[in-house]
Amino acid sequence: MTADYEFHDHTFDVVVVGAGGAGLRATLGCVEKGLRTANITKVFPTRSHTVAAQGGISASLGNMGPDDWRWHMYDTVKGSDWLGDQDAIEYLCRQAPEAVYELEHFGVPFSRTEEGKIYQRPFGGMTTNFGEGIAQRTCAAADRTGHAILHTLYGQSVRHKAEFYIEYFAIDLIMDDEGQCRGVVALDMATGEVHRFRASLVILATGGYGRAYFSATSAHTCTGDGNAMVLRAGLPLQDMEFVQFHPTGIYGAGCLITEGARGEGGYLTNSEGERFMERYAPSAKDLASRDVVSRSMTVEIREGRGVGAEKDHIFLHLDHLDPAILAERLPGISESARIFAGVDVTKEPIPVLPTVHYNMGGIPTNFHGEVLTLKNGNPDTVVPGLMAIGEAACVSVHGANRLGSNSLIDLVVFGRAAGLRAAELVSPGQRQPELAKGAGDNAIARLDKFRNAKGSTPTAELRLKMQRAMQEDVAVFRTGETLVSGQKRIADVVSGIPDIRVTDRSLIWNSDLIETLEFDNLIVQAVATVEGAVNRQESRGAHAREDFPDRDDENWMKHTLCWVDDKGKPAIDYRPVHAYTLSNDIEYIKPKARVY
Ligand code: FUM
Repeated sequence: MTADYEFHDHTFDVVVVGAGGAGLRATLGCVEKGLRTANITKVFPTRSHTVAAQGGISASLGNMGPDDWRWHMYDTVKGSDWLGDQDAIEYLCRQAPEAVYELEHFGVPFSRTEEGKIYQRPFGGMTTNFGEGIAQRTCAAADRTGHAILHTLYGQSVRHKAEFYIEYFAIDLIMDDEGQCRGVVALDMATGEVHRFRASLVILATGGYGRAYFSATSAHTCTGDGNAMVLRAGLPLQDMEFVQFHPTGIYGAGCLITEGARGEGGYLTNSEGERFMERYAPSAKDLASRDVVSRSMTVEIREGRGVGAEKDHIFLHLDHLDPAILAERLPGISESARIFAGVDVTKEPIPVLPTVHYNMGGIPTNFHGEVLTLKNGNPDTVVPGLMAIGEAACVSVHGANRLGSNSLIDLVVFGRAAGLRAAELVSPGQRQPELAKGAGDNAIARLDKFRNAKGSTPTAELRLKMQRAMQEDVAVFRTGETLVSGQKRIADVVSGIPDIRVTDRSLIWNSDLIETLEFDNLIVQAVATVEGAVNRQESRGAHAREDFPDRDDENWMKHTLCWVDDKGKPAIDYRPVHAYTLSNDIEYIKPKARVY
């Protein structure tokens, strides 16, 4: 460690990094069990990206018609294009109702039916009776469900005396020589002080990395900081090639228009005024799964049936719906459409375009949230002291494609599971070994590297090159040619890093240095994404290869593991999908053609 820095040391039973839905649910679970828990968060907790989740949270409550967790499980497995681990999916769908009732009891102000039950709306790919009917399974608080959940969980965490370190940027994990995680180093962006947190358990809940792309519904803070820390610790990420495009980002602005809009009866049209989804998904139509709708929209645009002067987008109609329903159930997106597209949704269609929305890939974990790695041939080896949850994790319940509203339920079910596991693994006040000499110096070296970056290329220039390459070459449709081009363009960005120029080197928020640390996190995830995509020679879920248009279960029903070294060089291996369930209450759902 250099003389420039002095560590401020802390010891906790558990440190959670990230205060979105998963991070707060885990924090709450840990403090409720008497574990002294710190939550380190880059932004004020209620500004975490969960706040932007609109349409709802899935759970088979059956408030609006018959439902069953097994139907939810079937839909999730099919949505995942059979890449999801069925033990984890069973856990998710089975625990979902209890997790939602818990939220209700914590105080989440859900919308209500006339009888006072939690209101549930239809969402894409959610069916009854194993694919026969349309399920109303998505529990909603108007179109501000994430906002409602986040504020409630933050209030509960404060009430239970969780200790928050707000506007602290996590720089790197502290790993010991045996490969156990011992803590994390973080920068207080208000003061520039560096803090070293020692903990029996570190739980990463740092969200996705949507900002590796040019146009995303994700907040600018979504830079996958935990994923990058895991790569720097020499551990792999999983299934990074599976990037979800949400069908309805506002054209030009990228802001989300919830799938709940189609759940409430909205529909898409092309330049001929045709409801084209009827051709692509005759049963589910506009409520087919997201990858299917995004591809259909892209084909319409490619074939010259896009709308607008450039024929480069699609219309989403809500103008036939009762304005009172729009005001009650979709107030947020009515406002977004007015501000970002200048559209009055009661009178005109909203211009929309598929926009990067979610990362199915992330840090491999089991359904307790424990991080997994490949060791001595065993891909289910647990990394001691380290957990990951939420969008940062790849459990894998979403496989190759996530169903809408399965994200919020993933956050709370696995956030809760992590708290339960933490209480089994750690007892309050448990003695921890002293940190080894030099622990945390990796984080200091990282700070120093960029504080001394006096080259000639501004960070913003490299970031833009990365974002454009990902947007153009690792898109809704891919080919070997576009992916190899993407691989070269991303490698070119990596090779530009030694020449990076950081002008504002202050250790406080909004500085060039912080943006550079975020870019440094994003670029390694871009490497892993493009590498996984080049190698996977099939089409599955969100990974649609025009040169390999079919799903290939014989060769490719396996998860990609990708390591990226400190020179930005990737290495790939694979681990088998968990093709078994947890209990005898449901049988393994065998692969079949995926039609909607
Ligand atoms: O469309 C939406 O409201 C997004 C939901 C989700 O991604 O789960």
